[in-house]
Amino acid sequence: MRSLIICVTFFMSIGLSAQTNAFEYLQPLPDSPVIPDTNLQSNAKIALGKQLFFDVRLSGNGTVSCNSCHNLAASADAEGSALNMKARGITRNTPSLWNIGHMSTYYWDARAPSLEAQAADHLLDPRIMNMSNELKLVKRITAISDYRAAFKAAFKDQKVSIQNVAKAIATFERTLNTPDSRFDLYIKGDKSQLSKAAKRGLTLFNDKGCLSCHFGVNFAGPAPGPALKMGDGFYEMFPTYRGTYYEEKYHFTDDLGRYRVTLDPEHKVMWRVSSLRNIVDTAPYFHNGAVNDIREAIKIMSKVQFNFDITDAEVEDILAFLETLTGKYPEITLPRLPEEKGLSVIDQH
Ligand code: HEC
Ligand code: HEC
Repeated sequence: MRSLIICVTFFMSIGLSAQTNAFEYLQPLPDSPVIPDTNLQSNAKIALGKQLFFDVRLSGNGTVSCNSCHNLAASADAEGSALNMKARGITRNTPSLWNIGHMSTYYWDARAPSLEAQAADHLLDPRIMNMSNELKLVKRITAISDYRAAFKAAFKDQKVSIQNVAKAIATFERTLNTPDSRFDLYIKGDKSQLSKAAKRGLTLFNDKGCLSCHFGVNFAGPAPGPALKMGDGFYEMFPTYRGTYYEEKYHFTDDLGRYRVTLDPEHKVMWRVSSLRNIVDTAPYFHNGAVNDIREAIKIMSKVQFNFDITDAEVEDILAFLETLTGKYPEITLPRLPEEKGLSVIDQH
């Protein structure tokens, strides 16, 4: 996996008045994420992926579905989680899956190169879905005749396999987009969408340097496309300035980020740059979810990335801008799950 590490100062000089440049760094959410040739969208696959997403039978002991942690009735885990994440050994913040198809790598440390690889990894992870092996998953699903039929209809090879489970889920995930935020409408030409405070916030976001990392369709750096191929990541240090009060208070450097994946000392405290779409809905913040409040998160970024103390008025303006990044959530209806009449496939003992 190649990495793209761009010097922060590289973009600093970009003025928002330069329309062409500004448009490049400030882009509306496209109608669709980039769809890989190896897993095209189809209604059959998307419908199957949605069922699988909501199905607790995908977890080892039939207790959690993808939706248990990535709740699609909400934006992220601001509502709290019914699961005891610490007891499961999970120390990372659960990311929101809205607009997830627009990322080029997956996980906070970018250890998965695609949504397909990510889903397959989660299924076998003992802390997450805890399927002990592929065979168990395949047997489970194959025992349910309507699922067998759905895999036949969705895939050329007609197989129930972990790859196809992951593919179906990924096609569903690529539909989870929140277009038409006030920022999107603004950048498409309706200048009335941003209040004065939000406009000041956007200027500050550029002047203070936030845009040097948080730019592009998801404010997370280049989206998959010519600049960054799927699987290539956009990583930066967090924190860039070490030894601040915030670092200690929120234990930011207990987890060394990409270093844990590559064991390259230069990757210590490197993280994938986070998306800022719907950011006011996705508290708590940062890889360890240690920060509950968006205002505190903005102050922290100023201090740990630039070593300056931002004023309260500046925080309010940046927040006014970030609030415009909340898009329109599509209505999600619960799918009806296939059931084998008179049979439970979960081992209850
Ligand atoms: C027990 C809670 C839990 C369950 C259940 C769960 N996830 Fe996750 N998921 C997480 C956490 C925590 C992370 C972040 C882990 C990390 O970055 O190291 C994550 C990360 C992800 C990501 C990467 C997001 C990003 O920003 O890169 C995707 C995609 C995802 N999960 C999809 C799924 C799917 C699909 C399922 C069902 C097969 C699922 N999750 C089930 C907790 C969960
Ligand atoms: C040098 C690159 C860089 C700069 C500059 C930068 N960020 Fe970040 N930002 C990151 C990275 C990397 C993360 C993920 C950090 C983590 O949790 O490990 C992040 C995370 C965030 C988060 C939390 C995201 C979440 O989902 O929890 C917010 C909010 C944020 N940044 C806002 C800002 C603001 C506002 C500025 C300007 C004051 C800024 N950032 C400047 C790289 C940067």
